Amino acid sequence: MRITVLYDNETLKKGLIPSHGFSSLIEDENLSILFDTGWNGPILLKNIEKLQKDLSKVKYIFLSHQHWDHIGGLPDVLHKIHNKVKFIIPSSFTPTFKKSLSDYGELIEVGERPYEFIPGYLSTGEMDTSLGIKEHALLINGKKRILVVGCAHPDVYNILQRSGKVDMLMGGFHDFERIELLGNMVKEKIFPCHCTKKKNEILTFYKNKSQKCGIGLEVGV
Ligand SMILES: [Fe+2]
Ligand SMILES: [Fe+2]
Repeated sequence: MRITVLYDNETLKKGLIPSHGFSSLIEDENLSILFDTGWNGPILLKNIEKLQKDLSKVKYIFLSHQHWDHIGGLPDVLHKIHNKVKFIIPSSFTPTFKKSLSDYGELIEVGERPYEFIPGYLSTGEMDTSLGIKEHALLINGKKRILVVGCAHPDVYNILQRSGKVDMLMGGFHDFERIELLGNMVKEKIFPCHCTKKKNEILTFYKNKSQKCGIGLEVGV
């Protein structure tokens, strides 16, 4: 199983285009899952091409929340993928958005409870914030437990408490402040990506337990 960052505010390799947003590709033996799509489709597709990734194998598209920097690249992706996909989405997505998605594949709508959509791959279930931004995260429960988050608006520590301890944590942690708590819930590696406000502080505080995130980051387990 391999996770590759396709879209991020930063890049780790030359020739890839950084841009505000997040997307990553999870490749397992028989399936690929696209997690979010950044906001700019042409940029996402260029990065995918540069990284030599094959979208035709994508069977599931997991959308963390309905923010432009996570779903904006979707139309270009869907025009590129010709096979029908399954969308793993929070049930709170707007009816108009759900309707447009349904033209391209089956919707798997997740409510507040965790949901295992294929063996070893779970949605944490949607969680709310005081601002009403509903979001769910992807929990991979394989050889390693890996939590992938979009912006973590419901607070990354709350999401970790829902998922339980994990080996790795990747994604945007938004304006999460209590970074000293992360180490209790993440055993091996923290990858602070995208909108994480305390990126540098996390990399300094967890010198041996964190790693810089950016487009081109590949994590294999
Ligand atoms: Fe975001
Ligand atoms: Fe967001």
